Amino acid sequence: MIRRDFLKSCGLIATGVALSDPIAKAETVLNISGSNASLLDDEKSDIHIRLRSQRPHNDKPITVVIIGAGNRGRVYASYAKTYNDNIKVVGVSDIIESRCNRIADQHGVPQENRFGHYREVFERPKMADAVVIATPDDRHYEPCIKALELGYDVLLEKPVAPTEKECSDILKLSEKSGRIVAISHVLRYSPYFIALKAVVDSGAIGDIVSVQHQEPIEFAHMAHSYVRGNWRCEKDTTPIILAKSCHDLDIIRWIVGKPCKSISAYGSLHLFKKENMPEGAPARCTDGCPHQGTCPFSAIDIYVRDKRHLGVFDLKNRKDDNEIMEKLRTNWYGRCVYQCDNDQPDHYVANMEFEGGVTSSFTMDAFTPHGGRRTRIMGTKGYIEGNSKTFTLWDFKTRTSKTWRKDVADFDEYKDSGHGGGDFGLVRDFVEAVAAQDPTKLSSSIRDSIESHIMGFAAEKSRKSNKKVDVKA
Ligand SMILES: NC(=O)c1ccc[n+]([C@@H]2O[C@H](COP(=O)([O-])OP(=O)(O)OC[C@H]3O[C@@H](n4cnc5c(N)ncnc54)[C@H](O)[C@@H]3O)[C@@H](O)[C@H]2O)c1
Repeated sequence: MIRRDFLKSCGLIATGVALSDPIAKAETVLNISGSNASLLDDEKSDIHIRLRSQRPHNDKPITVVIIGAGNRGRVYASYAKTYNDNIKVVGVSDIIESRCNRIADQHGVPQENRFGHYREVFERPKMADAVVIATPDDRHYEPCIKALELGYDVLLEKPVAPTEKECSDILKLSEKSGRIVAISHVLRYSPYFIALKAVVDSGAIGDIVSVQHQEPIEFAHMAHSYVRGNWRCEKDTTPIILAKSCHDLDIIRWIVGKPCKSISAYGSLHLFKKENMPEGAPARCTDGCPHQGTCPFSAIDIYVRDKRHLGVFDLKNRKDDNEIMEKLRTNWYGRCVYQCDNDQPDHYVANMEFEGGVTSSFTMDAFTPHGGRRTRIMGTKGYIEGNSKTFTLWDFKTRTSKTWRKDVADFDEYKDSGHGGGDFGLVRDFVEAVAAQDPTKLSSSIRDSIESHIMGFAAEKSRKSNKKVDVKA
């Protein structure tokens, strides 16, 4: 039996799935085992998928230059280390020399191909098949344009760029030059979202009528990234709806499968500002703050006690509390959360209407004890509710439910990949797309990625103007 027939026999493939459908490409085989469980009993049934290997199919390795050797640059470098027959790192650029050298040493990159500023890479004639751009948000546009002009294919970190015009320039140049640009919307490649999308596309819940989606940031992550850290100021990076939530807009658009027509958004910075500072708090948590015993955002708790988010510290030994304390005395991360130069909202709501009247509400919330997106999908025949780890599908007619409850650790090749297993799948598809010079091997085109960014820009316009905004992608 061919795969498509098998899927149909499982009742899990909608007829007419386009060849470019990412699930079809992912060769996901889905099987929902039957059960007579009652509507709310999700213990007795299961949803299974079989995933593609993370190893790309390409005969000759593609070559890449990694630009930005921070957290994300390291993710791409580690993929290349594991699948070194398929992708070779031949150059690295970072303005922090130790970061550049760390990746370059791991990959045997010669001295002449170790660069500081990305401009040095583009002063050379084209030296690889592709570049991976993993610099901060406000440093995506220039290297991406230069790379396309020189004929490189590009794996570009999200968000694409801080302004709608820059996004549109990148789209136009990629289409004009015929070069591949993949945007790092990695959630699409995680087993959880692959399974969720496959169930939706199977028709199991009928037509989608509405979607609720929440991105709980988690209070300490909010303090780290959006109050003290790299993404705290909209003007220096991108608005939080893009910096943090462009993944979510992409996922909502992907699930709904129709263009967004209009959006209205609300949100503000509620807590992390000077007027809320408890009395007598010093500028740094390390300066003997009298609120150390009660403040949930204490840098000493987050970094020294809990050892979280230490990747940005370039530590010699992450177990050395003195070394961490020393960093906190001088770096951004030791600052009192009420005395930073931050402006990103800590709560955000966006309501959207899609073609055909489908509606969606999205919320981004700093004040949660956990991360992990929560999604509810209301269809004409059924309902799905999930939390990024498990989701349950309810069928209205049969009053039965089936649950996806696979852990990413259940999938050998996915368990070392971040974002619920999604990071590596993106690189696999990018390698295949570059090797075959075929952008349809990617789960989403640059046009799709920019469409969801335009939703984000529209949300910001709405939030700031207090008006509903039409989305013109
Ligand atoms: N896809 C995802 O889910 C995901 C997750 C986190 C971050 N990101 C995005 O990835 C990008 C990088 O984030 P990160 O967490 O790795 O940040 P990071 O700060 O850890 O790394 C960025 C690196 O770029 C280097 N850099 C800065 N300017 C440079 C220049 N002119 N030339 C060369 N290198 C330069 C910095 O020194 C740093 O090492 C950001 O745009 C971020 O929003 C995406």
